[in-house]
Amino acid sequence: MKVKTNKELINKIYNEDSRNLLNILDINIKIKSTITSPPYFDMKDYGSENQIGFGQNYEQYLNDLQIIFDKIYSITEDDGSLWIIIDSFKRDNQVITLPFDLSNKLKESGWLLQDIIIWKKDKTVPWSKNGFVQRKFEYILFFTKSKNFVYNKDNVRTFDTNQLKKWWVKYPERYNPKGKALDEIWEFPIPVQGSWGDQYIRHFCPLPKEMVSQMIELSSSEDDIILDPFTGSGSVMFQSAVMKRNYIGFELNSDFIKMFDNYLEKTFSNSRKEYELIDNLKGQSDFELQILNLRILKYAKLLIRDLDKQKINYFKIFVKNKGKSEIKNKLIKAEYTFVGEFKNVDDTLANINELILKPPFSKFGIEPIITFSNNIKVFKNKNFGYIKSNSYSFQKGIDLNSEKIRIISDICVDFNENDYL
Ligand SMILES: C[S@@+](CC[C@H](N)C(=O)[O-])C[C@H]1O[C@@H](n2cnc3c(N)ncnc32)[C@H](O)[C@@H]1O
Repeated sequence: MKVKTNKELINKIYNEDSRNLLNILDINIKIKSTITSPPYFDMKDYGSENQIGFGQNYEQYLNDLQIIFDKIYSITEDDGSLWIIIDSFKRDNQVITLPFDLSNKLKESGWLLQDIIIWKKDKTVPWSKNGFVQRKFEYILFFTKSKNFVYNKDNVRTFDTNQLKKWWVKYPERYNPKGKALDEIWEFPIPVQGSWGDQYIRHFCPLPKEMVSQMIELSSSEDDIILDPFTGSGSVMFQSAVMKRNYIGFELNSDFIKMFDNYLEKTFSNSRKEYELIDNLKGQSDFELQILNLRILKYAKLLIRDLDKQKINYFKIFVKNKGKSEIKNKLIKAEYTFVGEFKNVDDTLANINELILKPPFSKFGIEPIITFSNNIKVFKNKNFGYIKSNSYSFQKGIDLNSEKIRIISDICVDFNENDYL
């Protein structure tokens, strides 16, 4: 038998039983990430013989899933991963903990459970007449093959300031300058008519494109191979193709595959164009600069607060952003020039050096350069003044030489925290 090359094996949905996936996939093929939602135990008939779930008992069902994910483990790259979207359900007035029963089985195969994510959606399958709370979520289990795995968390951070709580302006040191990391509750509404085309919605519960895209983004790069052993409508396969990944799917019901091929043919080129146009990271570097500038100014504000307590002479601080720091764990260099009459500069410097080694200063990621000067030239058009209590909006209409102005900088920030939700 002629051995197929990787190129011949990828970008296909096989109308085959995924229990036999190793009969088709060459052992040399390497999957970067598997993203799948297995059949929902015996609750839905997907219309093909030998399907997993429907017609099986719980033990058979779990064993079959274990066999499949065990095989997938053997063809997954060492830094690869597995996402399983799965839910618990009720039988005989009791919760059956399917996500956890399955996790225990997969641990035996070597998969490491890294995270349990809650997918919050607006509705799901009916829970049970006797349940007293409404069902609103499903589990997403995230497994990896090893401890070192691909997880591009910086690609999916939130840096849209409208989505951040307003205190990012006042507490910039608490925010990662690249944006807020994902948390473990993901909110994605289930697709509605139109988003996948009417036919699709009638036949399946396809996964939300945005959610699949987030998983692909987190766990793979372009040209990697994404696998779905239960492709159904092919939502994972479609999004993989759009995002320039290679895909491999398995699906028993050939009608579903035909429908997918048709959908791909009709909509792929527009979706690909959209993908190429949307730059998800656009604005991230502006956000990063804003956070770092806010940190630099707040650092000066805190220095003034602490030194004023020690009742040294009146002084102003002249602040400059000096660019990226080369020191480990420091993000940015900033120059703080203390302008005033100091009785003993060496003592003040020693004082400052002691302060900045400790929190909160040590937590700002700033490499400070401390200098002293009796006088410094300020330019009305180039410099901005801040008062002792507010380092996030510069003062308008107050002379920079006024006593009220304590921080002068070429950094211009002007935030009204109430403008942010
Ligand atoms: C929950 S659905 C997948 C839905 C899919 N994630 C989507 O977005 O449409 C599960 C699918 O697994 C398929 N299936 C069941 N047993 C299978 C097996 N042994 N091999 C391959 N596919 C199977 C069913 O036909 C069904 O389409």
